[in-house]
Amino acid sequence: MKLQVAILPGDGIGPEVTRQAVAVLQTVADVCGHDFQFESHRIGGTAIEQDGTPLPERTLSACLESDAVLLGAVGARKYDHCTGAMRPEAGLLALRQALGGFANLRPVQAYDAIADCSPLREDVVRGADILIVRELLGGLYFAQPRALDQNGLSAYNTMRYSVEEIERVAHVAFREARTRRKHVTSVDKANVLETSQLWRRTVTETAKQYPDVKLEHALVDSFAMQMITTPARYDVVLTENLFGDILSDEASVICGSLGMLASASIGGPVALYEPVHGSAPDIAGRGVANPFGAIQSAALLLRYSAGLIEEAEKIQESVQRTLARGLVTADLAGRRKRLPSGTDAVGEAVVETVADLLRSQMAYHAV
Ligand code: NAD
Ligand code: IPM
Ligand code: MN
Repeated sequence: MKLQVAILPGDGIGPEVTRQAVAVLQTVADVCGHDFQFESHRIGGTAIEQDGTPLPERTLSACLESDAVLLGAVGARKYDHCTGAMRPEAGLLALRQALGGFANLRPVQAYDAIADCSPLREDVVRGADILIVRELLGGLYFAQPRALDQNGLSAYNTMRYSVEEIERVAHVAFREARTRRKHVTSVDKANVLETSQLWRRTVTETAKQYPDVKLEHALVDSFAMQMITTPARYDVVLTENLFGDILSDEASVICGSLGMLASASIGGPVALYEPVHGSAPDIAGRGVANPFGAIQSAALLLRYSAGLIEEAEKIQESVQRTLARGLVTADLAGRRKRLPSGTDAVGEAVVETVADLLRSQMAYHAV
């Protein structure tokens, strides 16, 4: 299979983890005889430095011409004081909007091999397998009007959702639930916000087309608590943009580290894959970043943009085998106090494992 992938390493640890994800994809291509073409482009702070904008025209057009986009992370401390379009994050938001992926899938799986890495009790996290479906192109992130008032003494953003925006992401959540445990928890703040009241009504209405899927509603404040006290209770969690942003970082605690989480933004013409974490300026450049979130994003890319389900599953299996061998970065030392390996060593272990698994599968099919 031929696949053109735009690679946007970005800032901070972005390039460090993206390198490992690309190496895994290249290994899959080499072993299985696929033709994956990678082309790197600038985004975020790196692009502001070199091109004067966080999303250069060249980057955007290359992404739109690709079959899929794999991004590392954006963000750098030197832009913390900036507002508006000259922030690295503005480049990512503009890219998301241009690519049109309104459904951001963030799987949260507690792997047994690293159950001791969560600050939560092992018996609490074991078996947790949640898919957060975050609406990605609406709500407070994009609605107008928004501004910092000229006097600098007040500012406002607009929270807005249309029925159509809610329906389309709800359909994705219900369809995903059908492939899983057929349960959707829709999270909102319907006791206060009109947007949430519309959200709840629309999700309830959409659910009628999926009578085999059980729907429950939850308020975001108590849900934030219940998600980490009883994570195994949840299957698909559907929510709006800002709640989904916050809840997914919180959910990473269930897995043991924010560095584990991957994401896929689907529904538009070109899907975007990126780890959930940011550029982690506190550890950037030291070769210690956890690459599993980026590698698992590459697995999602094969699944959703290439339909290469077996290859995607082999990447997932390799991640779990690598973790089971105790080969982890420092964020996953855990209560067992594993000796940390560097980003490259962990990535290389996944590469070797995925090559072995794919080769033995091919040998098995050839018999
Ligand atoms: P962050 O996710 O970068 O880091 C939070 C904490 O988690 C830090 O202590 C960091 O060291 C740790 N961490 C994150 N990823 C890790 C990994 N792969 N391995 C090991 N440890 C990891 O969040 P932040 O510090 O709040 O934000 C830093 C910058 O990243 C900001 O500019 C923010 O806007 C940006 N950001 C970008 C994205 C993105 O590009 N998708 C996502 C979130 C934040
Ligand atoms: C994420 C990030 C982004 C978001 C930022 C960097 C714009 O936090 O992908 O979770 O808020 O969506
Ligand atoms: Mn976030």
